[in-house]
Amino acid sequence: MGAERPLVDRFDRVHTNLRVSVTDRCNIRCFYCMPNENVRFKARSEILSFEEIERFVRIAAGLGVTRLRITGGEPLVRAELPDLIRRLASIPGIVDIAMTTNGLLLAESAIALKEAGLGRLNISLDGLSEETFQQIARRSGLDRVLDGIFRARDAGFQQIRLNAVAIRGLTEDEIVPLGAFARAHGFEMRFIEFMPLDADGAWQAERVLSGRTIRERLESHFGPLVPLPRVDASQPAVDYVFADGLGRIGFINPVSEPFCQHCNRLRITAEGQIRNCLFSTVEWDVRRLLRADGSDREIAELIEVCIGAKKIGHGIDSPDFVRPGRAMYELGG
Ligand code: 5AD
Ligand code: SF4
Repeated sequence: MGAERPLVDRFDRVHTNLRVSVTDRCNIRCFYCMPNENVRFKARSEILSFEEIERFVRIAAGLGVTRLRITGGEPLVRAELPDLIRRLASIPGIVDIAMTTNGLLLAESAIALKEAGLGRLNISLDGLSEETFQQIARRSGLDRVLDGIFRARDAGFQQIRLNAVAIRGLTEDEIVPLGAFARAHGFEMRFIEFMPLDADGAWQAERVLSGRTIRERLESHFGPLVPLPRVDASQPAVDYVFADGLGRIGFINPVSEPFCQHCNRLRITAEGQIRNCLFSTVEWDVRRLLRADGSDREIAELIEVCIGAKKIGHGIDSPDFVRPGRAMYELGG
């Protein structure tokens, strides 16, 4: 279904991809995302209802959005999430719904999510030792995550992607075990560079373990990685497969190799603010329109204004880079 007015920005990027954050809450406290203690979560009344999210997505679909990703915080801490997925899956024009989860609650919800129409899953897995898990998440739970991963596969999810944020001085020793895990079980492993979106503001460029370093380490252990042809220019990962055909590995290198020029994403936070970039310092208030009898037309226009204001790139490496006022758990990744 072609949109009447596709969301094209000043740099000719066509926005077909919407990331919907459904909560800022989480059941763990990864240091690259959240504070450890005393998190000030949004009140329930501030968070969009399923009806509000559904209406927003319907309007976005009318502007050419075809793919959704459900994010958080941790999306599975939101009650009745499969209900929302079911509603979104029935919106004309939406062809794909994915979700990013930490996997802790996946074992019990995988079947319901699949039945509701969720198509794809990205599950966070930064390492395979409980010690590393606790150093990052500051809570325990690796076994539950692993159980969740396998239960999701049993529920019929294909192409499960495992996301590992790579941190220098912390996760180097996890790289080879994660590569072996992906090879043994047929999961796609994705290594993501650490971005300056941690709530504690402790990010430093020196802590970024680059995709290139990880690739070298994998290759010296398993042999050459062969690049796969890019299917979709807007996809942030560069994908490889080991020369023996076992194990797909992707690298998301937002810091060392920004992919902003092909970005096709729009985001809505759990409390209904739209953003054109993770690193944007500005957002547009859709909730106000949703709750004050704003028309579909007004909401569509606000989305267009947001996309029209999108900058060429995030500028992390620029001397005047300003961190956004929100951390990852408030943005949805
Ligand atoms: N840098 C890079 N990736 C991050 N994530 C969360 N915080 C960061 C960060 N500061 C990613 C993790 C998690 C997903 C929700 O977002 O991969 O799996
Ligand atoms: Fe929770 Fe995900 Fe943030 Fe970790 S990265 S604290 S799992 S929202």
